[in-house]
Amino acid sequence: MKLTDLRGILQYIPQFREKTFILAIDGAIVTDDNFATLMLDVALLWSLNIRVVLVHGASAQIQSLANGRQVKASDLDGSGVTDAATLDLALTAANRLTHEILEGLSANDLRAAYANVILAHPVGILQGVDHLFTGKVERVDTDLLNSLLAQGVVPVIPPLGFDGDGKTYRVNSDGVAVAVAEQLKAIKLIFVTTQDGLIYRGSLIPQMLVAELGKILQQDSAGFAPEMISKAQHAAAACSAGVPRVHVINGALDEGLLGEVFSNHGIGTLIHANEYEHIRPAKKKDARAIQLLIKQGVEADELVKRTKAVIEKSVGDYFIFEIDKNPVACVALHVYPDEKKGELASLYVSSSHENQGIGRKLVQFVEGRAREMGLKELLALSTQAFTYFQFKGGFTEGTPDDLPPARREKYEQSGRRSKVLVKKLG
Ligand SMILES: CC(C)(COP(=O)(O)OP(=O)(O)OC[C@H]1O[C@@H](n2cnc3c(N)ncnc32)[C@H](O)[C@@H]1OP(=O)(O)O)[C@@H](O)C(=O)NCCC(=O)NCCS
Repeated sequence: MKLTDLRGILQYIPQFREKTFILAIDGAIVTDDNFATLMLDVALLWSLNIRVVLVHGASAQIQSLANGRQVKASDLDGSGVTDAATLDLALTAANRLTHEILEGLSANDLRAAYANVILAHPVGILQGVDHLFTGKVERVDTDLLNSLLAQGVVPVIPPLGFDGDGKTYRVNSDGVAVAVAEQLKAIKLIFVTTQDGLIYRGSLIPQMLVAELGKILQQDSAGFAPEMISKAQHAAAACSAGVPRVHVINGALDEGLLGEVFSNHGIGTLIHANEYEHIRPAKKKDARAIQLLIKQGVEADELVKRTKAVIEKSVGDYFIFEIDKNPVACVALHVYPDEKKGELASLYVSSSHENQGIGRKLVQFVEGRAREMGLKELLALSTQAFTYFQFKGGFTEGTPDDLPPARREKYEQSGRRSKVLVKKLG
């Protein structure tokens, strides 16, 4: 690991400290080779004062137990009918898995406990079919969870619930995770699965607003693989219930969990409840961040070198595009009031965020501001992105004569021979 990675991680600490993350782990991940690393990552989150609660599924283990005993499970994931034999399989599989998780946490010096916190009642008879021992979460015992967390104990919750008479019901672990996340007011719910994230019509969704996911689920849920529909539905349900960020990651990847939590682009899928990206005016203290952002562009001769002092002097012209409070792109609008012209400059999108439409949003934003200011023309100088301005921004190629006199002088002095691009704002 590079030491600079640590700086990247540290920036997240204040916003995560004392907050709750729910990790919903598929049973299949508990027996994966990467499980020990995942438990180590939980210890790391815990050491940063993040309260982690683990919820686990058991379908893969129920299936293999059923195979071993040569019986047919009536349902695997707690959403169909659970007959008595399947409830027995679920109890054996879930208890074994909870135990393995407790072992994994103990191996990392974490105190952990089986948390019997799901109060359930039978799903009952749906469309004439008695779902027998399949339960529905009625309430989560948040008092118990909070007291465990306050004492530094990691709660581990199996996909089982109890009713007031002490009867056990099989509950769906994704549903449990959503209920726990909602009632504990978690800031993140992370589904740790065997897939790279939510894959829709063959492509991974890197991030999506819950409203958009809801629309897809309504209009084209078949675009998701059958085994991922439940994750998509529960991710949408959690966000709608107030959990701001829901992630779906691949638990078999070495850096899966940390890569998702401690980077602003992530590696799996992020479903978010609100716009988590926005453009804001830069402040003086952003000068260094701007300089760091455009550094790569300067090195590639795409942008003119600017010192921190120069950026600070005109910092009021700059805007920053943030994702989850981290600057990932910038742009400046320099105004020539006498000529009623504006220059769009220092447009830079960090390489990790290219081709996601951020450049276009910044160009549109600057254009909008220039119009609001009553400017008649927007200019841009570019050595390597002129076709971008032409084809994506609607600029046309101009000449140095289009530049205001003071700007023209600097242009001649620089010797960069950038192309001049013009957009009439009319
Ligand atoms: C040019 C730049 C701002 C584009 O930002 P972005 O957020 O990646 O771009 P968008 O997502 O809005 O648009 C992507 C499209 O632009 C195209 N594109 C990206 N860079 C381009 C370039 N230098 N020239 C032409 N087209 C380019 C992509 O191929 C893609 O095309 P598609 O939509 O047909 O697939 C970014 O690549 C960058 O920071 N470049 C270096 C700095 C620079 O040259 N700045 C301009 C000088 S002020």
